[in-house]
Amino acid sequence: MKHDIIRPELPDASTPARARITGAWLRDETDAVNELLHIAQLPEAERALVENQAAELVTRVRAKQDERSAIAAFMQQYDLSSSEGMLLMCIAEALQRIPDNDTADKLIRDKLTDADWKKHIGTSKSVFVNASTWGLMLTGNIVDLPDATRRDYPAAMRRLVNRVGEPVVRMAVRQAMRIMGQQFIMGHNIKVALQRTQRTDNRLYRYSFDMLGEAAITAPDAARYLKAYQNAIDVLGKHPKAGDVLAAPSVSVKLSALHPRYEVADRARALAELTPRVLELAQRAMARGIALTIDAEETARLELSLDILEAVFTDPSLEGWNGFGLAVQAYQKRAPFVLDWLAETGRAAGRRWCVRLVKGAYWDAEIKLAQEMGLSGYPVYTRKPNTDVSYLACAHRMFDAGADVIYPQFATHNAHTIAAIHHMARGRPFEYQRLHGMGKEMYDEIVGSGHLNIPCRVYAPVGTHKDLLPYLVRRLLENGANTSFINHIVDEFLPMEQLVGDPCEVVRGYASKSHPSIPLPVNVYAEVRKNSMGVNLSDDNELAALADAANQHPGPWQAAPLVPGAKP
Ligand code: FAD
Ligand code: 2OP
Repeated sequence: MKHDIIRPELPDASTPARARITGAWLRDETDAVNELLHIAQLPEAERALVENQAAELVTRVRAKQDERSAIAAFMQQYDLSSSEGMLLMCIAEALQRIPDNDTADKLIRDKLTDADWKKHIGTSKSVFVNASTWGLMLTGNIVDLPDATRRDYPAAMRRLVNRVGEPVVRMAVRQAMRIMGQQFIMGHNIKVALQRTQRTDNRLYRYSFDMLGEAAITAPDAARYLKAYQNAIDVLGKHPKAGDVLAAPSVSVKLSALHPRYEVADRARALAELTPRVLELAQRAMARGIALTIDAEETARLELSLDILEAVFTDPSLEGWNGFGLAVQAYQKRAPFVLDWLAETGRAAGRRWCVRLVKGAYWDAEIKLAQEMGLSGYPVYTRKPNTDVSYLACAHRMFDAGADVIYPQFATHNAHTIAAIHHMARGRPFEYQRLHGMGKEMYDEIVGSGHLNIPCRVYAPVGTHKDLLPYLVRRLLENGANTSFINHIVDEFLPMEQLVGDPCEVVRGYASKSHPSIPLPVNVYAEVRKNSMGVNLSDDNELAALADAANQHPGPWQAAPLVPGAKP
C-alpha cells in the first residue's frame, strides 16, 4: 500500500514574534512566573500606595452592602467550595441541557435530596439568600419555613419531593435560573439594551454589546448570529456618539458564533470562510463609526484567531479606522508574547489595536481538557495569583507598546488590579471594563467627575434566557469560585490585607510556583498509573513534529493497545 506524505495545515510563514507565541503554549510555570515577577513587581513604597488605594475602594464598596446584588449574596453563600453550591451549579447547568423531563426528574431525585442544605439556612444576612435556599428548592418564590422544618431539612426536602413531585421542583429550579440570568442580561434586544444605557447612572459608562452568540453548531446557527451582529452594528451606528470609536457603544463578537468549523483541525476552511465574515463586520462597524472587539475563547483557538484577526486588521479597506480590537487572556502562558506580536503587527501596519486585557473565563475547562488530553503541561497558570501577576506584567507591556499601536482596555472587577493599573498608567490614556451585573458598586466610585474620572466600558449581553446558558455558567463559576475577588469582597470576615494584598508578594512567597494540588497531566492518577499522553494537535510545533515523525516511517502502520496482555 502506498504511503502518502502527511501535510498538516500549518500557517504559510511564521515570524519570530509568532514563533515565540507558539513556543510558549505549555511552558514551564515556574520559569514563566519568575519572568513575569520581574516585570510586575513594584518598589515597596509604590506597593503600599496601590494597596491603600485598593483598600479605600473596598471600604467604600463594603459601605454600600445594601446595594450589592442579590446574586452576589447568593453566590457567596453557595460558593463552589461547598458541596451544596457545587450541586446547585451541576443541576442548574445540567437541567438546561437535558432535553426530556423524565431524565431531568431523575437527576433532581438523585441530587437534590442528599445535600446538607440545613447548614446554609440563616447563615447569610441577605433575605434573598435564605429565601433562595428555599425558593430555589421549592417553588421559585420567596418562602419562609417554620423552625421545626428548618431543623430537619433533608427529611423535609425528601418529603417535599415526594409530595409535590420532581416536575414542580424542576420548574422551580428552571425559574430560579431564569431569575439569576436576568442579572446578567442588559436587554432582550439591542434597542431595549440601548435605551437602558440612557438611565441616570448608566449614562456614565461606555458600552460594548454582546449578542450572546457562541459555539454555532450548524451553518444556520452561524448565519443567525451573523445577522444579529450586523443588525446590532446598524442600530449602534445611529447612536449620537457614533463616529468617535472610543466613546460610541461597540460590539463584542465571539468567532465561534460565526462558523461551525472554527477549529484548528479545519484551519484552511476556517481561514477561507470566517475571515470574510469578520472583515465584513469590521467594514460595517467602520462605516457606522463604532468599534468591534473579538472576544477570547478556548486556548486551542488562540493562534487560529490571530491568523484571522491579522488578515482583517491589515486589510486595506480598513485604512484610517482605529476601532478593531481583541481580548487577550492573561491566564494563558502565551499572553505576553501575543502582546508583543500585536505591537509588532500594529507598528508594521501603522494602525492601532484596541486590546482588552482579561484574566480568562474558561479556566476550569482548560485544566480539565489538558488532563483529559494528556498534554505535557497546562496552557494556563494553575495558581490564581500567578494569573494576577501575569495580568500586571501584560498591562506593563500594553502601556509600553505605545498609544499609537495599542489602546489599553482593562477588564477586571478586582480592586487591587484596578488600583495597580491606575498607578501604572501615570496619566496615559486607557479605559476600564466591567461586565453588566458585576462590579457596578466598585466602578461607580471610579467613573465620572469627583472620582478618578477614568472611563469604564460595560460588556452588555443582549438576548434571551435561551441563549444565555454558556455565558451564565461562566458567570456562576466566576462568582462562586472561592478564589474570586468578587466572591471575597462580600465576605466581611476576610481581612483587608488578604483582599488587597499585592499578588507579586504572594507569588514570591510560594515554595512551588505551580499549584501543589494540580499535578501535571501526566501525574493526575498519582501512584496508580501514569496518564496516557496525547498530542496537542492545536500546537503547530507538535503538529509539525508529529507529521515529520510519521513521514519518516512509511507505512503500513499498526495501532495497538498498550494494556499489558491485550491483543493488537
Ligand atoms: P479575579 O477574582 O481577580 O480573578 C479571577 C480570575 O483568575 C479567573 O476568572 C481566572 O481567569 C483566574 N483564576 C482563577 N483561579 C485560577 C487558578 N487556580 N489558576 C490560575 N488562574 C486562576 N474572558 C474571556 O475568557 N474572554 C473574553 O473575551 C472576556 N471578555 C470580558 C470582557 C469584560 C468587559 C470583562 C469584565 C470580562 C471579560 N472576560 C472574558 C471574563 C474575565 O476573564 C473574567 O471576568 C475575569 O477573569 C475576572 O477577573 P477579575 O480581575 O475580575 O477577578
Ligand atoms: C464571556 O463570554 C465575557 O467573553 C466573556 O464569558
